[in-house]
Amino acid sequence: MGSKKTAEKEVDIFDLQSIEGIGKATEEKLASAGITSVLDLAAATPRELMELGISAEKAEEFCLKARLILMESGFLDKEFIPASEVMERRKALQRLTTGSQSLDNMLGGGVETQAITELIGEFGCGKTQICHTLCVTAQLPADERGLEGTAIYIDTEATFRPERISQIAEARGLPPKKILDGIIFANVYNSSHLQLTIKELGRYIEKFKAKLVVVDSIISHFRAEYVGRGTLAERQQRLNDLLHRLLRMAQVHNIAVVVTNQVQANPDQFFGDPNKPSGGHILAHSSTYRIYIRRSANNTRLARIIDSPYHPANAEAYFKITEKGVEDLQEEK
Ligand SMILES: Nc1ncnc2c1ncn2[C@@H]1O[C@H](COP(=O)(O)OP(=O)(O)O)[C@@H](O)[C@H]1O
Ligand SMILES: [Mg+2]
Repeated sequence: MGSKKTAEKEVDIFDLQSIEGIGKATEEKLASAGITSVLDLAAATPRELMELGISAEKAEEFCLKARLILMESGFLDKEFIPASEVMERRKALQRLTTGSQSLDNMLGGGVETQAITELIGEFGCGKTQICHTLCVTAQLPADERGLEGTAIYIDTEATFRPERISQIAEARGLPPKKILDGIIFANVYNSSHLQLTIKELGRYIEKFKAKLVVVDSIISHFRAEYVGRGTLAERQQRLNDLLHRLLRMAQVHNIAVVVTNQVQANPDQFFGDPNKPSGGHILAHSSTYRIYIRRSANNTRLARIIDSPYHPANAEAYFKITEKGVEDLQEEK
């Protein structure tokens, strides 16, 4: 199990010792940090390995070798590849419905796999509600614009509500118990715990056949733990590491990753320079898509893409939150 047969060679992606230079001792060290497969290692950063007491040189080498093995076996893209191959990979890309057609349209068909979608907005704008809805829709068959997989929900704010999942499922005519069984939940208590959980994620994605990973929120622990300007650079570095790792996971496993990022009032900064740290908080740069959400008139919600490689700038969509989770407005604007 776990080997992927290709024309050239067969690789056991779970056998770390298939990498030259890794013996039993190193394997045990890696395992202590949740790195138990070539896939995990390919998604790791040399810095993480160094924290385990592995020399800088070896750390670089092991990570590189893991990636090379995956590239050779066709599991991972080569660093430089013809555009036709990029196109091929993008064909495997899947899209997940948010529950709102207009929001899906704005996203070019839904939340993409192989990418990180970052939901940004103030408290109460609906980020967590969108995440709950996606955990339900992810389990739908492809012809209903789901991903036919389970969802992993990483909660840092203690706002995950199974009762709400039940309600959304029921309102959509889906069996609540089965939908709840398809959501794997993890509570994380601080930023180190979050880091550790994300490090071990690869294993759980495989085990539970997950197609969606939610991190709600990616930033709260960092914000609470890093106070004062002197530590911002380190916070940003750690956050970027996490996002980078999540992106690798999204690509390697062809899953959708959705993270939330709570901000305080001052939407101007998003429509001005979204990357500019302001008011003491900083935004990570590594997300593929960043969606800014705010409450609008009559309790509707407005979503706007603020940073995307190819969506039209300032594309926007209105939606609402109901017992079904995310839904279109009855009368389209
Ligand atoms: N069952 C529901 N029916 C309708 N609206 C709901 C329901 N549950 C939550 N909401 C709406 O969602 C809001 C909370 O959104 P939430 O996703 O928790 O915000 P955020 O995560 O962005 O802080 C509530 O204020 C309410 O307007
Ligand atoms: Mg929330």
